[in-house]
Amino acid sequence: MNQQTYQIQSVSSAKEMTDALSVRKAVFIEEQEVPADIEMDEHDEANSKTTHFVVYKEEQPVGASRLRPYAPGVGKIERVAVTKSERGTGLGRQIMIAMEEAARAEGYQTLKLNAQTHAQRFYEKLGYEAHGDVFDDAGIEHIAMVKTISEK
Ligand code: COA
Repeated sequence: MNQQTYQIQSVSSAKEMTDALSVRKAVFIEEQEVPADIEMDEHDEANSKTTHFVVYKEEQPVGASRLRPYAPGVGKIERVAVTKSERGTGLGRQIMIAMEEAARAEGYQTLKLNAQTHAQRFYEKLGYEAHGDVFDDAGIEHIAMVKTISEK
């Protein structure tokens, strides 16, 4: 798969938001059985400061994620999802790199995320470091991870 296979973009229309949510629904609600009222929250509302991302492959949505303000200089990455058929292609890494570029442009120095523990290695390979103890969220084990993306 070359990089042109996928078009990663920040969401700027209602259709793109619907497409991003369709990926999240397939991955988190249907596949991982996260309750819908936990998967979608106030950070998805139109008036929130969240930046959403969607990935297209030949006009089909195949990936999604979101980045939101967490604390001064700190952004939080959430809902990183690649549809089953596209996993292992490097798309997850491409999404993370695109989000880090967007985060730098938005002025964040640090990115935080809560990784599902099965994906901890995926984030470690991108330079994220685990902190603290494993905790439960929506019935799934998580661990907090942090990466410095730019020096002040
Ligand atoms: N465990 C260990 N290593 C993993 C991994 C996992 N679960 N997933 C990916 N990796 C590794 C890959 O082997 C690859 O390593 P390499 O650079 O040595 O070749 C690297 O991480 C990048 O993998 P990539 O192909 O970009 O990952 P992906 O496109 O499959 O996306 C997820 C990874 C986690 C986003 C994807 O599996 C997914 O959407 N899972 C379901 C939703 C989910 O759990 N999201 C995470 C919520 S915290």
